[in-house]
Amino acid sequence: MISRIRTGVFFGGPSVEHEVSVISAMQAIAALDETRYEVIPVYVSKDGSFYTGDHLKTLDAFRDIPAAVAAAQRVVLQKEGKDVQLVLAKQKKFGSSVVAVLDVALPVFHGTGGEDGVMQAHFQRLGLPYAGPDVTSSAIGMDKWASKALFRMSGIPCVPALRLRKSEYYADPEAACARIEGEIGYPAVVKPYNLGSSVGIHKCRDRFSLQEGLEDAFLYSGAVLAERAVPHLREINCAVLGDGESARASVCEEPLNATDILTYADKYQSGGKSAKGAKTASGGSKGMQSLARQVPAPISPEQTARVQELAVAAFHAIDACGCARVDFLMDGESGELFVNEINTIPGSLAFYLWEATGLSFSKLLDEMIALALKRSREQSMLHTTFETNLLQTASLGGAKGSKA
Ligand SMILES: Nc1ncnc2c1ncn2[C@@H]1O[C@H](COP(=O)(O)OP(=O)(O)O)[C@@H](O)[C@H]1O
Ligand SMILES: [Mg+2]
Repeated sequence: MISRIRTGVFFGGPSVEHEVSVISAMQAIAALDETRYEVIPVYVSKDGSFYTGDHLKTLDAFRDIPAAVAAAQRVVLQKEGKDVQLVLAKQKKFGSSVVAVLDVALPVFHGTGGEDGVMQAHFQRLGLPYAGPDVTSSAIGMDKWASKALFRMSGIPCVPALRLRKSEYYADPEAACARIEGEIGYPAVVKPYNLGSSVGIHKCRDRFSLQEGLEDAFLYSGAVLAERAVPHLREINCAVLGDGESARASVCEEPLNATDILTYADKYQSGGKSAKGAKTASGGSKGMQSLARQVPAPISPEQTARVQELAVAAFHAIDACGCARVDFLMDGESGELFVNEINTIPGSLAFYLWEATGLSFSKLLDEMIALALKRSREQSMLHTTFETNLLQTASLGGAKGSKA
């Protein structure tokens, strides 16, 4: 038998989407082909510690997180020669402290501290190949302002928006609101520039609700976007799989929301019985099961084709890799489409969209890991040094004087 790819599945993390990440990761672990991958689960606690242990491969362990952590080994990632190892955080005096050696990482985080380039930078530094976008692309994907700028440059339609810093607002709240009223108008949507799960998002219809919305959003983030609210809102999402060389779109979904703004509760808690997906992940389950959605989205073939084309364009605009989900806002009356955001590590890795497209979760993961290894091979072929004798000839010049 060919040796299996030692795959660290990393999940949890500091964000508000911690629990959702656990569910996505358990779904992925259930779907990974055991004949090809040796799965090493790495749970990242809210405070950033890494834990591993075989029991962390099933959702049941996470019903009681303190107990799961108590039964796990706390580890750190380190490089030793060419190997990237998980070693005990408290190294043994005798015997080896190495718990596992990893060939690749599959980050299954959602939100800040995991999906935004922070974890990716950790892997990058150690030379550990990892699935999904690289550091820069992950960071841009998390930043609603930066990604919008790149979407615009690629000719992708986005809702008009402006960015307001917290300091700017509190220096002169009246002027800040007047600026939003002038440039955006009502109804306006205000949102933290770098969060997910609808945290801190408000639809504002007048000056009073605008101030209230902004002040709440500033509790979560140092800058917010104020956007024109799309009327007759329908939301359409589409997943994209690939890299800069080639990428393809999945079928579309329409999440069905109860209120104006699709809330955290709509997204994950509406059915009340979440988290059943893990056991049936490869058997045609529905992702975040409690989330009401229609797959494929009930839109025309022409609209579907347009969404798919724009989704791939958005994926390339931020130079994404792996499996991302591009979310659209649609004016249900005029049919006008806007790209709202890209999620570079979507909930459930959007496997339910790929299943509906004819690609199993297990094959989706094969492709994501293959892309990770491909990028790493390509990076290793890049020159990282070039011939120079700079240090032989350099002097500190005037800088020396500054110490005198
Ligand atoms: N410009 C907008 N017009 C109308 N509704 C919006 C707009 N922006 C966001 N929303 C609503 O708020 C929800 C969350 O906003 P989104 O930008 O997707 O942030 P998150 O990263 O939290 O998912 C969207 O799913 C949608 O229901
Ligand atoms: Mg969203």
